[in-house]
Formats: sequence, structure tokens, C-alpha cells
Amino acid sequence: MDERVEVTLHINGEEYQLEIGKRWTLLYVLRDVLNLTGTKYGCGTGDCGACKVLIDGEPVNSCTYLATRAQGKEVITIEGLSKDGRLTPVQQAFVETGAIQCGFCTPGMVITATALLRRNPNPTREEIIAALDNNLCRCTGYVKIIEAIELAARRMRGEA
Ligand code: FES
Ligand code: FES
Repeated sequence: MDERVEVTLHINGEEYQLEIGKRWTLLYVLRDVLNLTGTKYGCGTGDCGACKVLIDGEPVNSCTYLATRAQGKEVITIEGLSKDGRLTPVQQAFVETGAIQCGFCTPGMVITATALLRRNPNPTREEIIAALDNNLCRCTGYVKIIEAIELAARRMRGEA
């Protein structure tokens, strides 16, 4: 049996004291222990980006990240982005452009886009495509997703 350890995790501004398995992934703790099911389980092998969360502001695949490693770090999930029920500019742009498609890849896409626009408020189309490199969409493609990120960027710069 997996050895248990006590951890303190900071997730979406809340502190959680938990006893978890040493080898549990952050994704497992989020979804199955804390019921934060907005973060999705896609491949489980770090290839699809459905499970992305922000860790100290960086987009990270939580399916291949041990929960114990998140101690002392700030974890933000899709549930933690909007405040007081108001969508963020990225979320709003995804809704308006129709970039929300199957709903499975969307949380990871929004997390990646959020991290990108925080570090680069004026990305080129190529930079957006490069940032989405680890976020797979298997259905209708990336056109609307890229448009949504461009719209959000323009709005966050006060240009739209
Ligand atoms: S579920 Fe984590 S990268 Fe696919
Ligand atoms: S819209 Fe989610 S996999 Fe394509």
C-alpha cells in the first residue's frame, strides 16, 4: 500500500491539510479527494493538457505531477480563475468566439491561455500556437481557440 503523508496544499486561495498517498498525483487529489472536477483527466500521461493547472503561475500537467511536490506552492485550477462569479477575459472570449467545444479540453486550454497572457500580453499567432503545443483538441481544431486568445489579449490591453 502507498505510504501516507501529511501535506498542506494551497489551492485556489484555500489551505487544505490532507493525508495523502506519497505517489498520488495532483490531478487525483484535485478530482477524487477535493472534488474539484473542473480539471479533466484525459490521457494520464502528460500528453493532452486536459489536466493543466497553474502552479506558481506556470501551466503544469497535474496528471504527472506528484501532489506532495505542490507543498509550499500556489495551485490555481479552472475553478479558481473567476472571482465573484465573473468570468475572466480569457473565459469570456472562449464563450463569445465559440472556442468552448467539447468541454473536455477547454479547462486546460483556458489555463494555458491565462498563463500565456500573463507573461506575454501581446502574443503573435505563432506564439499562441506554440503555447498550445501541449493542449490537444481532437475534434474541431484550434481556429476558434486561437481567435479567443487573440480577443482576450486585445481586451486585456484595452484595445477591444
Ligand atoms: S490528462 Fe494530463 S496531460 Fe493528459
Ligand atoms: S474541443 Fe475538446 S477535444 Fe476538441
